[in-house]
Amino acid sequence: MDVAIAELNASNCKTYLLTCGSEAALVDPVRERVETYRAVLAQRRLHLAFVLETHMHADHLMLNRAARDALGAPVYMHDKSPSPLVDRHLADGDVLTLGGAAIRVLSTPGHTPDSLCFVTESAVLTGDTLLIGGSGRTDFPGGDAGAQFDAVTTRLFALPDATVVWPAHDYAGRTSSTIGSERADNRRFAGRTRDEYIALMASLGLPFPEKIQIALQVNQSGFEEAEVSFAAVSDVAALPQLTPADVAARLASPHPPVLLDVREPEEFTGELGHIRGSLLVPLDALEHRLPKLAGYVDRDIVVVCRAGARSASAGAILRRAGLQRVWNLQGGMLEWLADHRAVEH
Ligand SMILES: [Fe+2]
Repeated sequence: MDVAIAELNASNCKTYLLTCGSEAALVDPVRERVETYRAVLAQRRLHLAFVLETHMHADHLMLNRAARDALGAPVYMHDKSPSPLVDRHLADGDVLTLGGAAIRVLSTPGHTPDSLCFVTESAVLTGDTLLIGGSGRTDFPGGDAGAQFDAVTTRLFALPDATVVWPAHDYAGRTSSTIGSERADNRRFAGRTRDEYIALMASLGLPFPEKIQIALQVNQSGFEEAEVSFAAVSDVAALPQLTPADVAARLASPHPPVLLDVREPEEFTGELGHIRGSLLVPLDALEHRLPKLAGYVDRDIVVVCRAGARSASAGAILRRAGLQRVWNLQGGMLEWLADHRAVEH
């Protein structure tokens, strides 16, 4: 059994409808188009089984709670996704079933740490990992050109030549390609070593538009635009990071930092738990709590979230509010746990 794949948006940001029998999945839906998706599903009498996101997007608004509820299906994302609106976290090698057909999950970090590709019997949805004749930029926070080169050349290019490539973007109106033609002709990769690829990606000098930070912050936090106060992307990128070992050492020192956890209350007490002594201030409440937090002006503050993205935005907001001694826990609670550090629930 194979999955049928159709493109829905006919624009730069692509959404795909996957179907097998009467079961359907949406890949990378765009929030503004939810009613269109609902109409398509209803007209074709399809049951939406799940929504897949190839990664945390920076160029469109992803589903918020209302849109997810309107579609009535769970959202699946990479285990490293910073979003609080994920119903199931996926890992490399997971196999999903859609109407009897298998969809294999590949972890392909590089464009973002949470980039996934989805492999069906005859095709692969490549997100922003592999584009037609190109690849997704790797200069956003968490981007890694070397990891992307490895993912494309050792994972994607290992798929059969005839595998159809469906990317998350195309800026020239193209729809699909194949693994065989990308392996032969993609000028980012063909004939290039890993080091040459890293140098090429570092030399692209792509503009870093401020509005990207708005989309990222809304997508990362799960809140509405009006609810979030925005940090400048340059401030987020400049926020110093501490590893879990750095944070643990500082906590054991005579002047421990204040730990500020900016996740949702259900995440704070959920499966990942929290670091002992953390102060919970969800990102959407940060603005209101700034007057109280001003009392910590003489303390070191370490901001914490699930994967280190929401907290980077929070840290930039704190710095803008005049708190200068702010650090980000790199990789968030996921990294803290991967480092075998203690948590409370
Ligand atoms: Fe992207």
